[in-house]
Amino acid sequence: MMMSTTDPKHSDNDRQKVLSTYDQLAHAVETVGYRHNPIYLARKAVVDWDLMHTAGIVGKSVLNVGCFEPIDELIWAPSVAEWTAVDLTPQAIETARRMVDRHLAPDIARKVKLLVMDAQKLEFPDNRFDVAVSFSVFDHIPDSVVRRNAVREMARVVKPGGYVVISVPNRHSYYRYMYERNVRRGVQLDVGYQYFYSRSELRNELLNSGLRIVRFTSDMKNIGDLPKFARALLMPLVLFGDRMGFLAQKP
Ligand SMILES: C[S@@+](CC[C@H](N)C(=O)[O-])C[C@H]1O[C@@H](n2cnc3c(N)ncnc32)[C@H](O)[C@@H]1O
Repeated sequence: MMMSTTDPKHSDNDRQKVLSTYDQLAHAVETVGYRHNPIYLARKAVVDWDLMHTAGIVGKSVLNVGCFEPIDELIWAPSVAEWTAVDLTPQAIETARRMVDRHLAPDIARKVKLLVMDAQKLEFPDNRFDVAVSFSVFDHIPDSVVRRNAVREMARVVKPGGYVVISVPNRHSYYRYMYERNVRRGVQLDVGYQYFYSRSELRNELLNSGLRIVRFTSDMKNIGDLPKFARALLMPLVLFGDRMGFLAQKP
């Protein structure tokens, strides 16, 4: 299923900004990557890995859209049957390949396929994967049409009964407020956020792609072992986590 890929409102400058941000970062991640950032990893663990465990990926074929530094490849490749990851830039894919080959045993590294590919036009047949995941990628896509097409593409390539997992930073979070304040003040940031989804907007994007919502979570969900009454009191905070994500299923 091919879809329109251009949004006249979105300038080439924005797209270039995404590409150059990640080209510049690609060479740095091997030494000072996000896998050395405990806060980033903690948020990933609470959100992404919670959703991955719920989906169940052991022995499955998994697609990762926008791998960049291959944190998820290093963590999950041992458990899956096959892991395919795509990213927009050759630099990101070359870096990921080097790191996968360096850090994983050869029989596990062989399960990881890394390909240069655009999320909006996945070059895979329908119903190809058990699970398609994308972590911290949709927030780096400035064009709403590309974002919508990318969700639809993920839904297309998973099998009926298969899962789509997407996590992003939360528009309704203190993190986003601080980020935008820093940008306004001219503080140099390297993360290149282009868009902040709200929970309902991301939910609708998944529903409009024909998926069924299975689970929502954020990094405010599992904030520690607390008595039941304290957890109940804190429950509404889940809506305001810095990082949030959905697990959705193809009917
Ligand atoms: C923050 S990094 C992802 C990090 C990683 N998934 C994680 O959870 O740590 C964002 C990545 O999205 C990729 N990306 C942005 N737009 C894309 C697109 N249209 N297709 C594929 N990858 C894209 C960028 O090249 C970059 O490598």
